[in-house]
Amino acid sequence: MSLDPDLHPIELINAAAAVRVRAYAPYSQFLVGAAVRAGDGALFAGCNVENASYGLTICAERNAIFQMVAAGRRKASEIALTTRGGHAPCGACRQVLSEFSDDLTVWLVDVDAAGKPVSARRTTLDALLPERFALPAP
Ligand code: THU
Repeated sequence: MSLDPDLHPIELINAAAAVRVRAYAPYSQFLVGAAVRAGDGALFAGCNVENASYGLTICAERNAIFQMVAAGRRKASEIALTTRGGHAPCGACRQVLSEFSDDLTVWLVDVDAAGKPVSARRTTLDALLPERFALPAP
């Protein structure tokens, strides 16, 4: 299967695939690339960065979202996640994504051995994280 520019956000998916190969994952060998589209259309990318002290690892999704926040944006409309297998984001990242989105589209993208996107499944953060935690507005 190949991606269709009429059905898939090719630029976002390509950004996630491009950053995935920069992942620092010597312990798991599991490379993850994420790209988020901010409300104004700007794209921000992040990869997973592991550490010898395993718990200090940062996931690709949080890395991408934090890049967006550091660039002055507070809302994401869409995220693409590239992995071998088209995996869904971990629970911690789902909660962080919820902090910076209202109605987030999530693209789960499977890449081949060369890192090229081969298929993508669309879902939403609402589907992935129902009944999420949020503090009441002050
Ligand atoms: N990882 C992510 O980057 N995103 C996720 O949503 C789940 C896991 C990373 C963390 C670690 O470097 C590797 O994948 C294996 O867990």
